[in-house]
Amino acid sequence: MLKGKHIILGISGGIAAYKSVYLLRLLIKAGAEVQVVITPSGKEFITPVTLSALSGKPVVSEFFSANTGEWHSHVDLGLWVDAMVIAPATASSIAKMAHGVADNMLITTYLSAKAPVFIAPAMDLDMMAHPSTQHNIELLRSYGNHIIEPGTGELASHLVGKGRMEEPEQIVKVLSDFFSVKKSLRGKKVVITAGPTYEKIDPVRFIGNYSSGKMGYAIAEEAFRRGADVTIVSGPVSVKVSSPDIKVINVESAKEMEAATVAEFAAADIAIMSAAVADYAPSECARSKIKREKDEIPIITLVKNPDIAAELGKKKRTGQLLVGFALETDNVEFNAKDKLARKNLDMIVLNSLQDKGAGFGTDTNKITIFTSDNDRYDFSLKSKPEVAADILDTLINKYLHIDEA
Ligand code: C5P
Repeated sequence: MLKGKHIILGISGGIAAYKSVYLLRLLIKAGAEVQVVITPSGKEFITPVTLSALSGKPVVSEFFSANTGEWHSHVDLGLWVDAMVIAPATASSIAKMAHGVADNMLITTYLSAKAPVFIAPAMDLDMMAHPSTQHNIELLRSYGNHIIEPGTGELASHLVGKGRMEEPEQIVKVLSDFFSVKKSLRGKKVVITAGPTYEKIDPVRFIGNYSSGKMGYAIAEEAFRRGADVTIVSGPVSVKVSSPDIKVINVESAKEMEAATVAEFAAADIAIMSAAVADYAPSECARSKIKREKDEIPIITLVKNPDIAAELGKKKRTGQLLVGFALETDNVEFNAKDKLARKNLDMIVLNSLQDKGAGFGTDTNKITIFTSDNDRYDFSLKSKPEVAADILDTLINKYLHIDEA
């Protein structure tokens, strides 16, 4: 999978840099072309001579070559690269990447990279656990970067905890899995609803829910990677897309989501309804903030929201595919199959709240897929990006019969 791929291996200054030598060796063995970019402090831990000998390319570290004054172009590197992996990523480099502090070649290259970026943190357990680091990692994740979580074990400090850089073999596996696109969606237009809806009570209050949008955005990223033309109709979320080529239509209420989704569905091949749409909305939004009256409790009258999935189910033409989600607590299978039929879906993805790690806000999910012709597929607990790949693989295998060339 890595044969011929252009990989930038970014190395920052941590003890785990010794593992990067082996990582480089494995990448080269897997057929990748690797350009090493190392921070000034990275060079305190391993020598550029070893790295350039293994990669067959001069190591880039400074903005200019000391001898010739030649400029090392991070812009060219950013265009050349198919994937950038930063291993080890120290707390300091993570902070700089998160905030765009471009004071060395590694960070400028990261900021210029027009390719997926994989970050393998490595540091002492207290630094790793610190809210600053955690916040920075979350920021990087929200920009669409892939975090290769560190393992738990003995650290260079001899303390035991979370902070060990992931093993090189595993990092290579993450990269090759990423490039092993199995089934293509080239030429398909995919519309995905994601996140919650907010239904206004007054100018400052709303009815909403805890949906993070992570599942829908993961499906969008996976569909985009498989060549689809992707549009997300998104409720208010903090997740971001990794590429400006993924179209995002931001909406707030179910009615707005309905209008945008119906419009997009007209030309779509596939619609995946992962949004947690509020079932009801206040019958009217108060013009000004509802005041607290002394002895009166306000009564908010609710009206039914449109069921977007059911509406698309009615509009669906031959050849269009419609996928829904069911988040259930009781009678999970019965309820999921009932929704599948009632909304005229082709597939429904059930996540049961009885399963630990499944549902809202988590980074993982455990799903079962039911199809309109009574097939059932069970999956184990996986990360949301992996779940997204399972959903698309199942859809493609079952209904599209196209294989990646
Ligand atoms: O009926 P329930 O809300 O459980 O159905 C869940 C499925 O229907 C999800 O795919 C969800 O995105 C979709 N849905 C919708 N519009 C609604 C309610 C649910 O599109 N008003």
